[in-house]
Amino acid sequence: MLAVIVGGMFGDEGKGKIISYLSIKDDVDVGVRAGVGTNAGHTVVYQNKTYKLRQVPSSFVNHKAKLYVGAGVLVDVEVFLSEVKNFSLEGRVWVDANCTVIEEHHKTKDKNDPHLAKVVGTTGTGNGPAMEDRVRRIAKTCKDVEVLKPYLEDVSLKVNEAIDNNKKVLIEGSQGTFLSLYHGTYPYVTSKDTTASAALSDVGVGPKKVEDVIVVFKSYITRVGGGPLENELSFEEAQKLNLLEYGTVTGRPRRVAPFNLKLAKRAVMLNSATQIAITKIDVLYKEAAKIKNYEKLPKDAKKFIEEVEAELGVPITLIGTGSEAEDIIDLRNTKLKK
Ligand code: IMP
Ligand code: MG
Repeated sequence: MLAVIVGGMFGDEGKGKIISYLSIKDDVDVGVRAGVGTNAGHTVVYQNKTYKLRQVPSSFVNHKAKLYVGAGVLVDVEVFLSEVKNFSLEGRVWVDANCTVIEEHHKTKDKNDPHLAKVVGTTGTGNGPAMEDRVRRIAKTCKDVEVLKPYLEDVSLKVNEAIDNNKKVLIEGSQGTFLSLYHGTYPYVTSKDTTASAALSDVGVGPKKVEDVIVVFKSYITRVGGGPLENELSFEEAQKLNLLEYGTVTGRPRRVAPFNLKLAKRAVMLNSATQIAITKIDVLYKEAAKIKNYEKLPKDAKKFIEEVEAELGVPITLIGTGSEAEDIIDLRNTKLKK
């Protein structure tokens, strides 16, 4: 069973939360990180602890799950090794031998290049410049790095074998659909495609093996860095509505806008979503906090969910009601007739 989980907007939709929940609830066997690289910050809150991940899959919360980083993902050796140590992942995490390595000079360029730093407003983590070197075919790969030797694996082979052996596999994308190099708000985008198809390609799994494509939206929209954001709220408005957030990786305040149905429809199309997860409904409707039963949601929250679902034509199966992995309304059994 293979599910792919991707962001439907500009990143920070709450993918880490949804993946950590599914990893525990469905007892996944294999979690695979796809997406760009360490520019991502996925937050997982599990058993009162907050984890901020940039490199390893959010499925790590399930101690039985094997963890892989797909060949398309950029690897920052220092970040990888520190996550392995801090989250005690030794012996159950591997990177593909072909992953591109982010080096110090990539970070320096990302932070100092006026176009990247000022116009695009990148995360400064070296991801874009490392991609440039990959495209020029001069980048180092993980197999060139001595300290990574114990972690090298043929990830596409392992993941395909797991799927063929009926294991439960989750592929985790990073960023969001409209930060895609091709389908996003170019040039205010990241350095790769970020849709579900790209996540599969990052790992080396073909499209026929996918059972579910779960697109994650947040109940409102945030964006960091440059680029268009329709109906953007002023800092004061966002603050008043309690919608202010700060970047996981950069600490920058996030720009805020209300939910955007037109963009959401497009994200459903671009990813061929089979299910939708909506996070942070408790931020819009305080009484929704920590609710696990749909019927107990406030009336306005239900109205919002039902309107979005009707417009998108795809079932909203997971509704986030708090930061903990298990603060969630899980409607999969009610909505998916399988
Ligand atoms: P880069 O990916 O660091 O090159 O940054 C390009 C654009 O994508 C900038 O607007 C970043 O703020 C944005 N971006 C990259 N990664 C993330 C993420 O994980 N969450 C939100 N925005 C991101
Ligand atoms: Mg993030």
